[in-house]
Amino acid sequence: MPKKTPPPSPPTFNRKKISVLSLRQMKQRGDPIAILTAYDYPTARALEQAAVDAILVGDSLGMVVLGYSNTLPVTMEEMLHHSRAVARGAKSPLLIGDMPFMSYQASTQEAVRNAGRFLQEAGMDAVKLEGGQEHITTIRAIISAGIPVMGHLGLTPQSIHQLGGFKPQGLLVDAAQVMLENAQLLQAAGCFSIVLESIPQELAAYISQHLEIPTIGIGAGSGCDGQVLVSHDVLGLFDRFTPSFAKRYADLHLEMKKSFTMYIEDVKSGQFPGAEHQFSMPDNEWQAFLDENEN
Ligand code: KIV
Repeated sequence: MPKKTPPPSPPTFNRKKISVLSLRQMKQRGDPIAILTAYDYPTARALEQAAVDAILVGDSLGMVVLGYSNTLPVTMEEMLHHSRAVARGAKSPLLIGDMPFMSYQASTQEAVRNAGRFLQEAGMDAVKLEGGQEHITTIRAIISAGIPVMGHLGLTPQSIHQLGGFKPQGLLVDAAQVMLENAQLLQAAGCFSIVLESIPQELAAYISQHLEIPTIGIGAGSGCDGQVLVSHDVLGLFDRFTPSFAKRYADLHLEMKKSFTMYIEDVKSGQFPGAEHQFSMPDNEWQAFLDENEN
């Protein structure tokens, strides 16, 4: 039997750096944009090797990695720490750092400084922040400082207490109208893209068709210019729940549990470490050691 040649792996390390302009061009060409979250170095490496277009270091970090029940406790220092790890692992995707709760709400000056820290201290290429008209002055100021901004409308998890929980948004005509107006305001302010989270698919498609900048949907249907998911949901790494809009491609939580159980059993039964997991001193050195200690 002739040997099967493996399929070519996706372009990785020679891949051209994806910029905010690349995303705009992808929308113009009708190329769907694929984005995933990452919070650490190995995930960032895997995403780069899989040729993802952009990586979002999301404040979902708080829920899927740090174990908080929502994103509100996440701090700038936590976001920067994880953003640095991601930046060390992936070079070619566009890297977007998520501004955590209270890093941009208190004052415009503080918001610009915090946004700048993502680029200056953590290797990010852009930042994302939640909200529309209420943050437009801040968004303009960050963009004026030369920092690309991604908007985020719909279910904005940093406002869950105001929204009454993790609920779909824009279901009624007035809310849908406000969403469209906010999307237009974000575009006019200079945002390079907008995340649309948990909004009806027809509204997301309408907004996408009426904007020049790409929309990135999460629970917003197939009419967006791209999609983003939390990597832990895609991998089945987070066992507490998976949102209904997420597609799970693996059950790594189960795999992790199985591997840990096997390791524990191996240690308890003396199967690990095996001969191949240990090494010895040269015989003469060992003998000399024994001579010194045993006589
Ligand atoms: O924090 C995050 O991961 C996000 C995405 C879900 C869009 O904001």
